[in-house]
Amino acid sequence: MPQHPKQAWPYPEVVAHRGGGTLAPENTVAGFREGMRYGYRAAECDVKLSADNVCFLLHDDTVDRTSNGKGAARAKTMAELSQLDAGGWKGGAFAGEALPTLANVAAYCLAQRMLLNIEIKPCPGRFEETGRLVAQEAARLWAGASAPPLLSSFEIDALRAAQAAEPALPRAFLCEEIPANWRAILAELDCVALHCDHKTLTEELARDIKAAGYQLLCYTVNDPADARRLLAWGVDSLCTDRLDLLPARG
Ligand code: G3P
Ligand code: CA
Repeated sequence: MPQHPKQAWPYPEVVAHRGGGTLAPENTVAGFREGMRYGYRAAECDVKLSADNVCFLLHDDTVDRTSNGKGAARAKTMAELSQLDAGGWKGGAFAGEALPTLANVAAYCLAQRMLLNIEIKPCPGRFEETGRLVAQEAARLWAGASAPPLLSSFEIDALRAAQAAEPALPRAFLCEEIPANWRAILAELDCVALHCDHKTLTEELARDIKAAGYQLLCYTVNDPADARRLLAWGVDSLCTDRLDLLPARG
């Protein structure tokens, strides 16, 4: 399979964090619908593996905070996860919302022409297999699509496994603080972008990253003044919980 073309992901100015920010239950199709309602072209979500190796959406290591279940996500099969209510914690209007598989979300995004940033968020101890299986599933689900999903991760081992499995899918290195050796990491993983916590970015680093030819995304930007400053520094995309942060465009 050919290497990915650089700039393979369009990097819209705003990206909805965990589907629909804080307006809907995170990492659910209801969240993606909320993003669409605000005119968003792109969303981010967190993906891990169930006990029976199905790729599904969840941020935490346990299901406790964002569902009516209890316990470690890695110990549950997809059949068990599918029984959970992943919406009721966010209010009665969302009660009964399913905990989706990556396939569920791919179907929604492809039908709505919504771009997806898949954050590979492995359960403890499952870094490499999660990177490999998420990349393979993403390549299968988006085969023939006009825009591929973008894979990102804090875990270098997961990104390396994704790169080995599906080199054509675009990748981004995700970090809180930008490490001194960011150039070497991006080159080794053949990434198109760096994604960082906006609080740790400086104007100088933003200039260097852009000058090196990479896309730059900051998370989680919820203040309009921060948004304007970061865009003025050359940041391409802002991942936000506040869907009213900026008019969704580009
Ligand atoms: O991908 C950016 C952001 O989502 C990373 O932080 O904790 O929300 O997954 P977190
Ligand atoms: Ca995330």
